[in-house]
Amino acid sequence: MEQTKYLLDESQLPRRWYNVAADLPSAPAPVLHPGTGQPVGPDDLAPLFPMELILQEVSTEPEIAIPEEVLEIYRLWRPTPLYRARRLERAAGTRSRIFYKYEGVSPPGSHKPNTAVAQAFYNKREGRTRLATETGAGQWGSALAFACKLIGLECKVYMVRISYEQKPNRRSLIQAWGATIVPSPSEETQSGRAILEQRPDSPGSLGIAISEAVEDAAGRDDTAYSLGSVLNHVLLHQTVIGQEALAQMELAGAFPDVVVGCVGGGSNFAGLAFPFLREKIAGREIDVLACEPEACPTLTRGVFAYDFGDTSKLTPLVPMHTLGHDFVPEPIHAGGLRYHGAAPLVSQLLREGLIRAEAYLQTDVFASAVLFAETEGIIPAPEASHAIHGALKAAREADEAGEERTILFNLSGHGHFDMAAYDNYFAGKLEDVALDEEEIERALRAIEGLPTPA
Ligand SMILES: Cc1ncc(COP(=O)(O)O)c(C=O)c1O
Repeated sequence: MEQTKYLLDESQLPRRWYNVAADLPSAPAPVLHPGTGQPVGPDDLAPLFPMELILQEVSTEPEIAIPEEVLEIYRLWRPTPLYRARRLERAAGTRSRIFYKYEGVSPPGSHKPNTAVAQAFYNKREGRTRLATETGAGQWGSALAFACKLIGLECKVYMVRISYEQKPNRRSLIQAWGATIVPSPSEETQSGRAILEQRPDSPGSLGIAISEAVEDAAGRDDTAYSLGSVLNHVLLHQTVIGQEALAQMELAGAFPDVVVGCVGGGSNFAGLAFPFLREKIAGREIDVLACEPEACPTLTRGVFAYDFGDTSKLTPLVPMHTLGHDFVPEPIHAGGLRYHGAAPLVSQLLREGLIRAEAYLQTDVFASAVLFAETEGIIPAPEASHAIHGALKAAREADEAGEERTILFNLSGHGHFDMAAYDNYFAGKLEDVALDEEEIERALRAIEGLPTPA
């Protein structure tokens, strides 16, 4: 009998998060205070985050215990299944073996609640009663709304306007879990009003929505800010994915030659890849591939520099791959990948050659998504479809080289609320957006004069 799913028992849920910072060949550059140019300390971050998350942000401990209350909520959908994509392999005609870890079984439909639940938990324990956040595709906003409802916090979501319009059902989901939601840029914050003055029809971006949520949180004592990606503690919380996948690959009697994930800010990629990178740093050979859109090619065409995480320059300066904080990506359908920056940890791993990155056009990505839906049955989120495309490309390259590889990718979410994007694709209305070099040069001028990482 050919096995399709590799499942773990609830008792096998990882009890600790894995912190890749402990194993990096060189220490990451510090995050800087934009006013002083000095590394930020816990006191600078305390108005925005609970102390436990600040400590996790700078921790170099290899493992951090997952609180029992968080594990109890994780058990609603974790451990998630790992599949062998036999039908996809046959349809692609590859000799390689393709596996995927499916995070779309969580109630909001993606990997995002892995950190949302943890963040809500620590905020509640330290006395906050309300969280403010941004959301691009709506996956993060719905995950935080879900987590806040279960933990007992209020939640305010600034949703990038183009997604707010493209995805009314994601909006309803956020409301169903009791959160308040506004399109960003909004009239509710100074940052939003300033953008609307310059460009009343702004489609918004994650950078703009982050400015609004940070401003909201900084202005109220009862409110903390919550970010769905990029930061070290967010990537840390996602590592339950890769730890489970390591055990499930063992059940399958296999180990991946190639590990693939899509990158918006880097959290689902990190969640799957970091536990495998631990093995790579210890000497195993693994090709680790990050996939991004050509319309927002942060890792493949951005520069490694200090930059702000948001458009209005409210955040600290972060050492990362960036296209410049005022870069507004074209409104492609993978809304969760429209971010000008990337996680510092992912950026550093790229610089050190431990991972590599590729960028794809959205029509190619949707073609792979449809092949996946036709064979494996699941309608993938447009973001996750970048990883499907990357995995299929890796399989094709292996075939061309006459090799058989074992490929593992992260299917970070389902696309049930992205059907308008599929409609456009089937109607031939999806446009490819390749970014010209002049626009990148223009956007990067915004970071001239900022400090340079060593
Ligand atoms: C399903 C899905 N995958 C991937 C991403 C990209 O985020 P990250 O790079 O943090 O995983 C998003 C973001 O919204 C998402 O919704």
